[in-house]
Amino acid sequence: TYRSVVRGIGSYLPARTLTNADLAQMVDTSDEWIVQRTGIRERHIAAEGEVTSDLAIHAARAALADAGLSGDDIDLIVLATSTPDNTFPATAVTVQAGLGITHGAAFDLQAVCSGFVFALATADNFLKSGAYRRALVIGAETFSRILDWSDRTTCVLFGDGAGALVLEAVPTDPADTGARGVLTSHLRSDGRHKHKLYVDGGVSSTRSTGYLRMEGREVFRHAVGMITDVIEDAFAATGVDAQSLDWFVPHQANRRIIDASAAKLGIAPEKVVVTVDVHGNTSAASIPLALATAYADGRIKQGDMVLLEAMGGGFTWGSALVRW
Ligand code: ACO
Repeated sequence: TYRSVVRGIGSYLPARTLTNADLAQMVDTSDEWIVQRTGIRERHIAAEGEVTSDLAIHAARAALADAGLSGDDIDLIVLATSTPDNTFPATAVTVQAGLGITHGAAFDLQAVCSGFVFALATADNFLKSGAYRRALVIGAETFSRILDWSDRTTCVLFGDGAGALVLEAVPTDPADTGARGVLTSHLRSDGRHKHKLYVDGGVSSTRSTGYLRMEGREVFRHAVGMITDVIEDAFAATGVDAQSLDWFVPHQANRRIIDASAAKLGIAPEKVVVTVDVHGNTSAASIPLALATAYADGRIKQGDMVLLEAMGGGFTWGSALVRW
């Protein structure tokens, strides 16, 4: 059997930042309100004409460089996004072409903010089965394009960005819990919650793109329970616990959700990677952006036990444990 081992990581943020003070000029809000309720101070916004695949290609190139690999070495691309360049083809095939890859397969995956965990789990299963050898798992979003910039309850929360991991199938003894790679992943969804967080348009319903709509308080009310449940599943499957973790890298939606989840699980605050303050909620890109930040500054090192978690529209939610 194989295990999916992390070979490289990379990320990309658009150059332009939008601060809370900038937003206070656009809608009736304040830096104090946004920081207190969400922990967000600034977010990056894609330039006019800069599309999701552009962000993804930058992140993928950085991940390949980190791995010391080229596009030729990749035979699978799974790209998580809710803001694709076009309705079709998949943004992943644009990324594939941009990287000069003409073999293997590339496809998009849609699980909103949980997209990266779903994409990681999907790629992991293809690699474990021996079907593919090396995968790019990408989360890339331009949520700025689906925000109603006159709605202060949503437009202050999100940002644009992309992150990518290179995973490689490495032959491993399944009983060797010390071996590097993805140890377990757990995915969940419950469509009864659709209207709490959705986009009010789409090809088949309105023939338009629509805008993000959210019942923030309802999302908040469900988030911590769902997140901690699916992490308990990961702990139960592996015997890993809050003490034996090195890093907790949650989806970056809101500082209060992150802190409450960590506290409920007994994860020490110094093990929690937080980037929501400077990235905002970048949906499927938030986890690889946070991973890339903690890797670049030397926190995450080879052999570390890293717990990933996300929850978002659908609702969808999931967790993954990775020995880095
Ligand atoms: N600036 C100033 N005031 C605001 C703003 C704003 N940007 N937005 C809302 N308000 C006002 C509201 O109008 C309301 O005023 P009222 O009392 O006069 O009606 C007041 O602030 C309180 O609004 P609530 O929505 O009750 O505020 P709450 O404390 O719930 O915070 C927030 C809102 C931050 C959205 C919170 O509910 C939250 O974080 N929810 C989770 C949602 C989330 O993170 N979604 C991300 C996508 S899902 C995911 O990734 C997990």
